[in-house]
Amino acid sequence: MAEYDDPYDRSGQFIDPMIAGWWEQHGAAVADALRELPADTGPVVDAGAGGGLGTRLIARTLPNSRVLAIEPSLPLRSVLLSRVFEDPDLRARVTVDDDDLFSARLPNRISGLVAANLIGHFSPHERDRLWEELAPRLAPEAFILLNLPAPVEPERVERTRMAELHIGKRSYVGRAGAEPTGPEQISWLMTYEVHEGDRLISRDDVRHTWWTISEQALRAETAPHGLRVVPHGPPEAELFKILRDEKK
Ligand SMILES: C[S@@+](CC[C@H](N)C(=O)[O-])C[C@H]1O[C@@H](n2cnc3c(N)ncnc32)[C@H](O)[C@@H]1O
Repeated sequence: MAEYDDPYDRSGQFIDPMIAGWWEQHGAAVADALRELPADTGPVVDAGAGGGLGTRLIARTLPNSRVLAIEPSLPLRSVLLSRVFEDPDLRARVTVDDDDLFSARLPNRISGLVAANLIGHFSPHERDRLWEELAPRLAPEAFILLNLPAPVEPERVERTRMAELHIGKRSYVGRAGAEPTGPEQISWLMTYEVHEGDRLISRDDVRHTWWTISEQALRAETAPHGLRVVPHGPPEAELFKILRDEKK
């Protein structure tokens, strides 16, 4: 893998259990979309697969499909590899790639691509490259499924508790808040604390640059690549399908 500066090198240990709530809430909407993908036209790509909660959902929803899970972060990929290995069915059908999405060798034909909780990592220039790379690979009826998490324009996000987990005698608390840092950019400050009773065991503060993008901006930047955007599922899931515009 090419040199990769991992924004999850510290927080990767907490992401999988802390993002499980998103999958509990929106996994059914993601699965509904997956069932619309064409069969037998190449693997379904899970881009930025994290610990693989989405990868597992893809594989279980589409029991005859191969899945290519791309995950450049070492701590997250370790979780992903174990999750895939533990399940003999996933082990047979899921390939784990350690590249970042821009250096990964994508197959010429894919049945679909899931980019869950990912798009804000990419600058407008990187997204343009991505649409350029993906558009010709999408099989007929195939699509990219992504979410556009709020805020979709740069704005201040009040610091809130995003997750609290209880594991054994310890609790794991994640907090997040953001400040605008540019015309299409915010900076998230994420704090991960581990407590045992009244004792604070550890605290990690992590800053993430996040590129905001609205549905309107997504439509405008994908259209020149012959792609069209269709909202999917309940609005609170913030999910969109990006399909080839067959009229073009
Ligand atoms: C918030 S996590 C979401 C993980 C997973 N998709 C989920 O929803 O459970 C964002 C993921 O994107 C990955 N990521 C960030 N930049 C990436 C890139 N350039 N190529 C591929 N994955 C990337 C991170 O390593 C991380 O696993």
